[in-house]
Amino acid sequence: MMSHADSLQGTASARSSAHGLARGVLADLRKTPKQLSPTWFYDEYGSQLFDAICELPEYYVTRTELEIMHRHMADIAARLGPHVAVIEYGSGSSMKTRVLLDHLESPAVYMPVDISRMHLLDAAGALARDYPELRIKPVCADFTQPFSLGPLPASAARRVVYFPGSTIGNFETDAARRLLTSIRTLIGGNGCVLIGVDLKKDPSVLQRAYDDAAGVTAEFNLNALRHLNHKLGADFDLSSFEHRAVWSADHDRIEMYLVSLRDQVVHLGNEQIHFARGEQLCTEYSHKYTLESFARLASEAGLVVSHVWTDPQNLFSIQLLERRWLL
Ligand code: AVJ
Repeated sequence: MMSHADSLQGTASARSSAHGLARGVLADLRKTPKQLSPTWFYDEYGSQLFDAICELPEYYVTRTELEIMHRHMADIAARLGPHVAVIEYGSGSSMKTRVLLDHLESPAVYMPVDISRMHLLDAAGALARDYPELRIKPVCADFTQPFSLGPLPASAARRVVYFPGSTIGNFETDAARRLLTSIRTLIGGNGCVLIGVDLKKDPSVLQRAYDDAAGVTAEFNLNALRHLNHKLGADFDLSSFEHRAVWSADHDRIEMYLVSLRDQVVHLGNEQIHFARGEQLCTEYSHKYTLESFARLASEAGLVVSHVWTDPQNLFSIQLLERRWLL
């Protein structure tokens, strides 16, 4: 057995200095329209809020993905095969990872890839306690940038990139295509991808899922500003912004915004950022796919959909992608 701590892959390049972070945020806030990366939702409080979102009656996403996992795991595990190296995009503290690991036949290694060293070590530590037989090799990296996995055990039969949660939905089409292309390269000739993809549905259902009655999603959205205040010393006044979620039929996505409730100036470092009353700061896109539109995207990334599992209502899908060989 290998302890999780002695094999942490990745370098300081995965961490960014507060200065570098502030520059990135300022560049995004200077765009028209203003933007913020959805990664700003997730400090400790934000991760708790996301867990609370997953329990909301309106937020079908996590519940439905887990239901599909539970119902079809034997089939999924059989298609992945024995002795796989599981490479999870995200830190993998979730129930879903455990359902997968519980059903795989002798996985060769489990490699969570996450930009947050703290999330990574927490999640890997918890898994190591519950799966003492499993080799765990955390990789600290930003998976949207080139990174090295380091050596894999010789016993690994194939690489499986596990990318649950419809996180792919956060990426705009070009970026999603680039990410899938880099995954295609990473899995090698005989590898595959097991990915959670949220499906297009009645906009009113989506609207409620991203603007819940209890206001948890609103609090989650506003927390990005609280996080910026804590981490970068900004002075956003949270009561001067309001949550908004809108369905864009043109782009097949939910768009989340924070709307400035008044004309105001926010300070970050030595810089000032002006917000007009009613001005929108875009904090997240959550793209929704049809089976056809996702198959097209996968194909453009050199991947072919070899199997799709869905729930009876077709709310969500788990898809198995393999390399498409061009003659
Ligand atoms: C974690 C990106 C899948 O898009 O549904 C939940 C995040 N945002 N509610 C999503 C989220 C608002 C979520 N993902």
